[in-house]
Amino acid sequence: MIKLDDTHAYLKEDIKSYQDVVTKCHEMLMKGTGKGNDYTGWVEWPNNYDKKEFARIKKVAEEVRNKCEVFIVCGVGGSYLGARAAIEMIHGLYSQKKPEIIFMGNTFSSTYIAQIMKYIKDKEVCVNVISKSGTTTETSLAFRILKQFMEEKYGEKEASSRIIATTDKEKGTLKEIATKEGYETFTIPDNIGGRYSVITPVGLFPIAVAGIDIDAIMVGLKKAYDDLASDDVDKNPAYAYAVCRRILDKQNVHGEMLITYEPQMELVAEWWKQLFGESEGKDGKGNFPMSATFTTDLHSIGQFIQEGKRLIYETTILIEKPTLDFEFPTDDADMDHMNYLAGKSIDWVNKMAAKGTLQAHGVIGKIPNIVLTIPDMGAESFGYMCYFFFKACAISCYMLDINPFNQPGVEVYKKSMFHLLGKN
Ligand code: PA5
Repeated sequence: MIKLDDTHAYLKEDIKSYQDVVTKCHEMLMKGTGKGNDYTGWVEWPNNYDKKEFARIKKVAEEVRNKCEVFIVCGVGGSYLGARAAIEMIHGLYSQKKPEIIFMGNTFSSTYIAQIMKYIKDKEVCVNVISKSGTTTETSLAFRILKQFMEEKYGEKEASSRIIATTDKEKGTLKEIATKEGYETFTIPDNIGGRYSVITPVGLFPIAVAGIDIDAIMVGLKKAYDDLASDDVDKNPAYAYAVCRRILDKQNVHGEMLITYEPQMELVAEWWKQLFGESEGKDGKGNFPMSATFTTDLHSIGQFIQEGKRLIYETTILIEKPTLDFEFPTDDADMDHMNYLAGKSIDWVNKMAAKGTLQAHGVIGKIPNIVLTIPDMGAESFGYMCYFFFKACAISCYMLDINPFNQPGVEVYKKSMFHLLGKN
């Protein structure tokens, strides 16, 4: 379902020459003998996810859909990005689907929080608070505000029936609060870390509340599990992609810009940046993940990419079939001189722009380009794409001898911040 084209990647080594190291990394991942092996639960998840909990997710999501206008997802990092990426990719940005989904708990911005609180004041609200550790400060701060708001608005009992917690099965502050208040609770598996958790209740519950078919996500996930099972780089595009990244890194192109031509994929790019950035950026190693949406950003950083300092390679995601398409109209007067496009589909124009940009950046500018083609922006493709990037990321990290599943560097800002905030 995902095709990789490295024609314009300018690799100075053959991908196949990395087969032995890839096989070694593959075995480490599949046998659970690599670094961070406590967190490889996502590998077999397409086969062994908890079917009972999955059914409960669908049931509770339906109840929530029927009783709220606004659904607040309160979480940060891996406890937020995947759900938002899926909802935006699958629904688009102006779908007007109900309930409206709002994301909180991912910032300390007083303006952002205050505006949301004002916006939801007179609306019917349900809340999903998500935190694996149960103690993340951005999320805890927002949740206290939301909890008090819900209790004042609905009374304690009704508030408790409108708040759903997704957290560890037995430990952590959030688990304690959920138990005391009698919240409906979903479990984050011990062996799946935040940025790999969109395929667990962390992502699936808000995605289901948004009205998306989560069965289709699991179908895509399982297809990817089957398609990407081989360690052979000729048969496994996720592994070929991991090797391309390592070769380009060796060629001193350390920045990877994920390019999409669909604004509704911007959050997928944010999710991808977290996955690769937090997994791989350690020990002074890793490719720096960044993103751009074309053609929009061709009118800003496009200039730098074409002619500026050589810092990056591009990984371009092309979508074969758009969610919606329509024909560009004719205008008899043609005062805007746009009739040369009359009768053409808008998606065709977008595709020609992508082709032209690949020519400009890849062929003329010699900026290495890896092209990944995805069939569409539906739920099945989303599930497939998640698993594709999970596997690519894990192998890419193991090739660097890095633990893909921890994030020790994140603690440094927390420590400094806690000191300034007077936290003991
Ligand atoms: O990938 C990760 O592990 C992190 O980004 C976490 O998801 C993020 O820090 C939020 O953590 P928690 O779910 O414990 O609140």
